[in-house]
Amino acid sequence: MNDHEARSSRFGDPVPTRAGFDAAPRNTAGYAGSEVVSAYAGGDDHEAEASVRPRRLAEFIGQQRVREQLELLLAGARRRGTPPDHILLAGPPGLGKTTLAMIVAAELGAGLRLTSGPAIERSGDLAALLTSLGRGDVLFIDEIHRMARPAEELLYSAMEDFRVDVVVGKGPGATAIPLELEPFTLVGATTRSGLLTGPMRDRFGFVAHLDFYTPEELEQVLARSARIMGVALTPEGGAEIASRSRGTPRIANRLLRRVRDYAEVRAGGVVTREVAHAALAVYDVDPLGLDRLDRAVLGALVNSFGGGPVGLTTLAVAVGEQPDTVEEVCEPYLVRAGLLARTPRGRVATAAAWRHLGLTPPPGAFGTQGELFEATESGG
Ligand SMILES: Nc1ncnc2c1ncn2[C@@H]1O[C@H](COP(=O)(O)OP(=O)(O)OP(=O)(O)O)[C@@H](O)[C@H]1O
Ligand SMILES: [Mg+2]
Repeated sequence: MNDHEARSSRFGDPVPTRAGFDAAPRNTAGYAGSEVVSAYAGGDDHEAEASVRPRRLAEFIGQQRVREQLELLLAGARRRGTPPDHILLAGPPGLGKTTLAMIVAAELGAGLRLTSGPAIERSGDLAALLTSLGRGDVLFIDEIHRMARPAEELLYSAMEDFRVDVVVGKGPGATAIPLELEPFTLVGATTRSGLLTGPMRDRFGFVAHLDFYTPEELEQVLARSARIMGVALTPEGGAEIASRSRGTPRIANRLLRRVRDYAEVRAGGVVTREVAHAALAVYDVDPLGLDRLDRAVLGALVNSFGGGPVGLTTLAVAVGEQPDTVEEVCEPYLVRAGLLARTPRGRVATAAAWRHLGLTPPPGAFGTQGELFEATESGG
């Protein structure tokens, strides 16, 4: 598909196939990528993203702190001629974890191997992969929190001492054969850093938490993508798309592709504010870019629980999701957008959330004057 595959092919036996990598099931109860504002990759995303993916750190927009820290980490490693510390990239989907992993390998001029936690079923698969790594290679494990426990334990010694014990045989005759590995850098990505075990987390020398992008940063992402795709996008058109992209470059790029279709078919090709607005209305894109799960969470909070407070688990059951999906994938953006608040008593819909759903916030709703929760509940 692109150059990381070309690089990895020199190792022969690919444990992680591209298909296996992409087909790793998402634990998202069927809404993954099924709508235009989902943060998960789906539909035509994989093909389209490859062409607009930044290749070097200098092209990577936003995430200022993470970028600066990574720059230092990589520069130090290059000076010393040794692989950098293992890197953990944590954050909601579509913010650039895979992109950064590829950039790390590119900046180091290192080979890159890609796999994902669910694709590593047996520790033997992982051992084969690890022993095939060349000196200084980058091993990217996506969704690392979903790796099977025996494989995870094998990874500990690989990360710490560049050594694995491969068990040969079964039962009383089984022997562990220690194998030396070439020094490598593990880049792990996770959307659920809370599910990572302590020993796993401790073995990463560098942990980067990716945050949602500001509208201005998304405008830069869109301007860059439009240039690459040959789309005529005015700054106002970019701003209109950015404001509905849920702080997520993947969504911004996807909306740009949908708006381009509309512009070409119905509006002479130029994406102005008016064209973007009309196109996004056709695709029924939420004005704040909320996806179906976001809206389900707010809807349940308001309609079933009177705006809260309600506990995370109860809320998750009400929308048919895992609590950690709600907490780590959905809530961060709702909190950031000022629609949901986490209080000591539970989750609360803000007045803005009621209004966003077209309802009148009750007196005392969070975020109105005389609000109840912050004032009276925060101690309990
Ligand atoms: N900082 C950025 N600048 C420009 N484009 C970006 C940036 N971050 C991400 N993108 C774009 O968004 C797309 C999605 O990013 P990426 O695949 O790296 O997300 P991810 O965090 O790995 O998501 P997931 O959790 O679903 O694996 C990329 O193809 C890229 O085009
Ligand atoms: Mg990814």
